[in-house]
Formats: sequence, C-alpha cells, structure tokens
Amino acid sequence: GAEGHIEDVDFSFEGPFGKYDQLQLQRGLQVYTEVCSACHGLKFVPIRTLADEGGPNLPADQARAYAGNLDEVEVPGADARPREWTDNFPARSGDGTGPDLSLMTKARAGFHGPEGTGINQFVKGIGGPEYLYSILTGYTGETKEEAGSTFYENKAFPGGWIAMAPPLSDDQVSFADGSPTTLDAMAKDVTAFLMWTAEPKMMDRKSAGFIAVAFLALLSVLLYLTNKKLWARVK
Ligand code: HEM
Repeated sequence: GAEGHIEDVDFSFEGPFGKYDQLQLQRGLQVYTEVCSACHGLKFVPIRTLADEGGPNLPADQARAYAGNLDEVEVPGADARPREWTDNFPARSGDGTGPDLSLMTKARAGFHGPEGTGINQFVKGIGGPEYLYSILTGYTGETKEEAGSTFYENKAFPGGWIAMAPPLSDDQVSFADGSPTTLDAMAKDVTAFLMWTAEPKMMDRKSAGFIAVAFLALLSVLLYLTNKKLWARVK
C-alpha cells in the first residue's frame, strides 16, 4: 500500500550549524502537554532540563510550576507526593497508551537505501523527526476494525495501519506567541520538541565538533610546515 511515505522537512536543527528554535521547543512542549501526554510518557526526561539554555529555556519558576501540575509521584508504602522539577516526566502505561516518546526521534529512521547503501540518510539525515512528522500528518481518514480494535490508515506507518487515532487537527491548541496552529505547524513544533528530548545536548555537541575540526585543521597546517622545515636540508 501507501505505507512508509516520509516527507522531508527542513528543521532548524539540521546541518552542522543547526540550532534548536527556543520558541518552537516551547510550543512543542505545549502540544506534548495538552495532547500527547494523555497517552505517551517522557520518562527519561528530567523536568528541570526545560530550563536549560539550548532547550526550551523556560524561566526556573515556570519549570517548577510545570512539574507541580503533573501527576504525583507514587511512593511505595507511603502517600504519593507532588512531582518536583528534579523528577522526570511521568511514564504512561496501560490500555490505549503508546510507547514512551523520550527517545522516539532517535529510535526510528525515516530514510533508507537506495539498496541498503544509506545514501538517502547521508543526504537527508536519518529521518527520525521526519518519521514522526509524517505519522502525525499521514492519516488518510480511512479506518478499519480488526480483533475488536480500531486501526487508522496512515501513509507513514509501517504496515499502513496504526492503532493511534489522529492526535492532531487544525487549531487544537492556541499558542501565546501567535504562531500558526495548522496541523502541519503543530506537527513540526512537537517533533522539534521531541528531537530535543532525545538529544538535549545536540547544540553543544555540534559546537564542540566544530572546534575540534578547526583545531585539527590548524594542527595539520603546522605539522606540514614543521615537516618541511625539519627535512629542508636533506631533500
Ligand atoms: C504510537 C506520537 C498522541 C496513542 C505513536 C508513535 C508516535 C506517536 C511517534 C509511534 C509510532 C511507531 O511505533 O513507530 C504521538 C504524538 C502525539 C500522540 C507526537 C501528540 C501530538 C497520542 C494520543 C494517544 C496516542 C493522544 C491516545 C489517545 C498511541 C498508541 C500508539 C501510538 C496507542 C501505538 C500505535 C501502534 O503501534 O499501532 N504515537 N502520539 N498517541 N500512540 Fe501516539
């Protein structure tokens, strides 16, 4: 069928100098909170990292208040306690819930081949964020019942039928910064947020990589010149 159709998206964080867009991460957090968190946890993500520079960069008091609004933390043999910002986001389990989204953008690939060579990934990236975006925007509107469950036709999902009802539709949230709330825009925002949860240090890694490469380039020039000078009399 039409399964496995992945759209290529130009995200701000792509490429060697790509950066997260802080306001986009904040909007994505909002979409996750208002929509996805009903069924998907983020159990590997510490809430305090919402205040990190290079992440959504919330003011610390807002990140603390955000933690206080989440489900309480179960304590074995004692009363549940309020969630602190030093805790992680809650997990989700049970009927109708989906997989944890903490690392989902790194757990899936959008691009493959051709013929097992990986050239598409070399050119376009691995495609994890594109895969998520394509799932969210890939519903055809067709449904089917099978073994007592409803499945929704989706152009991106392997097999073509997913158990998740279309979670997003136009104007489902309203953004304080006045950004567009089309399905397409919300899907990009939440995907960018989920890229950040999976790779919160991406910007640090890229800048450290750049410095390392620049240093090695300089070192090569110096070694070349040293070599010339040392052997000048012999040659
Ligand atoms: C699966 C994202 C909202 C229920 C998934 C998958 C992703 C995802 C990436 C995994 C696809 C895969 O395994 O490759 C999101 C996002 C949401 C959202 C970003 C918010 C915008 C919801 C909601 C529900 C839900 C609100 C419940 C009402 C499920 C279920 C699955 C799933 C049951 C497993 C589907 C299957 O394996 O067939 N979701 N989801 N999701 N999600 Fe969601």
